[in-house]
Amino acid sequence: MENQNKVSFEEVIGKRRSVRKFEPGKTVGNSVLENIVDCGRWAPSGANTQCFDFIVVNEKEMLGKVTKVFLKQAQRLVDYAKGFPAVKKSYLANTVAIIIVLGDPRWKVCFPQASSEKYKDEYSLNNEAIFLCSLGAAIQNIQLGVAAEGLTSAWLSGGGEDTTNSELSKLLGFPKWMKAYGTIPIGYPAETQDKRYRRPLAQCLHWNKYETKQYRSHSQIDFYESTLRPFAMYRDIEKIEHWKDFEEKVGSWGSSFTTQFSNSSGKLEKEEDFSKPRSEGRATRMRGKN
Ligand SMILES: Cc1cc2nc3c(=O)[nH]c(=O)nc-3n(C[C@H](O)[C@H](O)[C@H](O)COP(=O)(O)O)c2cc1C
Repeated sequence: MENQNKVSFEEVIGKRRSVRKFEPGKTVGNSVLENIVDCGRWAPSGANTQCFDFIVVNEKEMLGKVTKVFLKQAQRLVDYAKGFPAVKKSYLANTVAIIIVLGDPRWKVCFPQASSEKYKDEYSLNNEAIFLCSLGAAIQNIQLGVAAEGLTSAWLSGGGEDTTNSELSKLLGFPKWMKAYGTIPIGYPAETQDKRYRRPLAQCLHWNKYETKQYRSHSQIDFYESTLRPFAMYRDIEKIEHWKDFEEKVGSWGSSFTTQFSNSSGKLEKEEDFSKPRSEGRATRMRGKN
């Protein structure tokens, strides 16, 4: 049957929002789910390895079991990753299907390998980047496919935690060295959400070279982590300056978030090792005391 909710590609990018509210009592046909997975199949991947597999869960009982794993995963965030503003996962009860995108790490062997010891680490890190970017492309394609079908989804990354992944692997039967990098609950949107905070285009677009006036300082990132993050993640408004409580929430950081030049001096900070988070975030630290 023709899907009446289908939207044109022009709307798809806008409609691919993480809407974590689904209408209850709905179902979706297998052919729609196949179309969506086919979007994932057409994603680019390093060396065309297609280092992903897609598990579509649409049986009620299995949906319930996967949901349970994610309710536990949400509790793990509360217990072990305090301060992260996650929403309650109870909305998963109304999903019509959940697509799990598995990454198969064996395919990394097909990416460029160092032919001398000296470059082993460099290429190994690059292999990981190619692998994860390929998975990201597949997950993104699936989310776009979902939006094109007039449905909505979220991108749950909790399957990337070893504990959660091992529970999923037991439940769904995939080898535990494959990882559920993306879990995509799908449903009919219970409300229209086609906006979300985005930086001004002029701030993230650099012409011909990196414009250091568009650099975001360490302290701007820390401010986002400590204060702005939950609102930026969940409010249905693109521009922060349109928030009713803009002044209160953003204080003296206003222009850094709303104009082209977040760093008017153009000065960069000294280089550090950013392979791990630079600092323990304030939100985490504050909750850690509880
Ligand atoms: C790699 C990655 C991991 C994410 N993990 C989660 C997650 O575990 N749970 C969730 O609700 N949203 C998750 N998201 C969704 C982001 O919070 C969301 O994309 C962001 O806040 C912007 O909102 P938008 O998708 O509506 O534009 C993830 C997104 C990405 C790209």
